[in-house]
Formats: sequence, C-alpha cells, structure tokens
Amino acid sequence: MEAIIRPDKDSAALLVARLIARELRANPALVLGLATGRTMEEVYRILVRMHREEGLDFSLCRTFNLDEYVGLAPEDARSYRYYMNHHLFGQVNIDQRNAHLPDGMAKDLNAECRAYEQKIKRCGGIDLQLLGIGEGGHIGFNEPLSALRSHTRVKALSPVTIGQNAVFFGGAEKVPHRALTMGVGTILECNRCLLLATGPNKAGVIAKAVEGPITSMISASALQLHPHCTVVVDEAAASKLQAAEYYRWIFKNEPEWEEFR
Ligand code: F6R
Repeated sequence: MEAIIRPDKDSAALLVARLIARELRANPALVLGLATGRTMEEVYRILVRMHREEGLDFSLCRTFNLDEYVGLAPEDARSYRYYMNHHLFGQVNIDQRNAHLPDGMAKDLNAECRAYEQKIKRCGGIDLQLLGIGEGGHIGFNEPLSALRSHTRVKALSPVTIGQNAVFFGGAEKVPHRALTMGVGTILECNRCLLLATGPNKAGVIAKAVEGPITSMISASALQLHPHCTVVVDEAAASKLQAAEYYRWIFKNEPEWEEFR
C-alpha cells in the first residue's frame, strides 16, 4: 500500500482523476470499478471536464459500481444508478450497456449478486477500482465483520452508515436497511485499488485502515493485503497518520509520482 498526501481535497481529487484518465488513455477498454458518495463528486466533475476539454474517451470503457441500495429503482434520485447517471454516465460518451451496477430491484437478490460477479469475470476482471471509505471503515458497503473473502452479496447497513447517509433520505428511519455490494474479496481481486478520502471526519478511520491491524471490523484495512493499492488523502484526512513524513517523502521521490508533483 502507498499513501499519498495532498494539501487539500481538490488536489487529492485531481490526482485521483488524473490517475484514472492516465489508465483510460493507456487502455481505452479499461474495466473501471466505481464508487459513489460525496467524496467522489469532485473526481467525476474533473473527469467530465477532461472529456469535454481534452476528449477523454469513455466509449470503450466498461464500468462496475461497488454497490446499490435494495429497493431503489434507477429513476429514484437517491439510488446509486441515478447518482452515476447524474455525475458521470450522462455527461460522457460511455455506452450505457457497459455501465454496470447491481440491480437493487431484482426479484432474486442472491441470483443478481451471483450474476454480477459473473459479469465482472466475463469482462476479464476489474483493472482499476475506485474506492471511498465510510466513517465506520467500510469500502463499498462492507460493514463491520464483513468476511475478507466475501463476494457480491446483500448486506445489512450499520447504524453508522445509515447515520452517514440519512441526510439524503430526510432522516435515518427512511434509509434502506440493506444494499447489494461487491465483497472485500471482489475488491481484493482487482488489479489496482485507488482509495480517496478527504476531510477531518475520515482522519481516525484512515489511520486505522492504513496503519492499524487488518481486521474485518474495518474492511478497508484488508487493502493492506492488496499488491497495488494507493490511498490518496488530503492533509485533514492524513492528520492522524503516524508515518505521514515518510509518505510525503515517497511522493517527492518516487518516479511514478513525478508527473503528478
Ligand atoms: C459508495 C461506497 C461507500 C462510500 C463511503 C464514503 O459507493 O462505496 O463506501 O465511498 O461511504 O462516502 P462519502 O464519500 O459520502 O463520505
């Protein structure tokens, strides 16, 4: 794992967007894993701008989102399909047939989860998986005690997650209690992981995920097992990292980061 610290949330999001754009230019048929949430909005804004101003091409790209709420239809403004259409898919030249999310309205949710894993496999696996992190340590909706080898399945949302997302539903009692989510195992099987976290609310959980022990209580800590995982944080989210000076040194000195400095 490597941790990259940028001065503020905009420069952190810019670095993530530029990394995605670099991978997409190198491989136009990239299989890209996507996340939703507030943190990602700026990343998608930058990718849309790159599409408009620099011709960043999504026409051959395949995408797989991490998760979707159970019981929300695509046209529901609180569903993740709606979020993705609004922030990215509707604004770039992606072929909607290549933009996958689990279907939270499926009659047989377990069959839908199995089919989602199959679709990922048929595309040859995920090349680059974009991730956020919840205040309780989840990636996707892998809530505390999620098995580190889990695959796409239905998960009950934790009270912390429900609280974090209550504002979008007009109260915690209206937040769906379940979601379909890629498993920690699904995420660990992708070629590269790219996690973005910004703001002081994420400082405690980032320190646990990056420098703490690997535990299913903080599913993001399992990323320490991944051979190619980059965690990008702003100064606020980095404020509880013990080895921050070392991470800054890496960014200044490693050739991979030269074009981003
Ligand atoms: C959503 C997802 C979640 C979010 C996380 C952070 O697809 O995968 O793990 O990334 O809850 O959300 P924000 O960015 O709203 O703090």
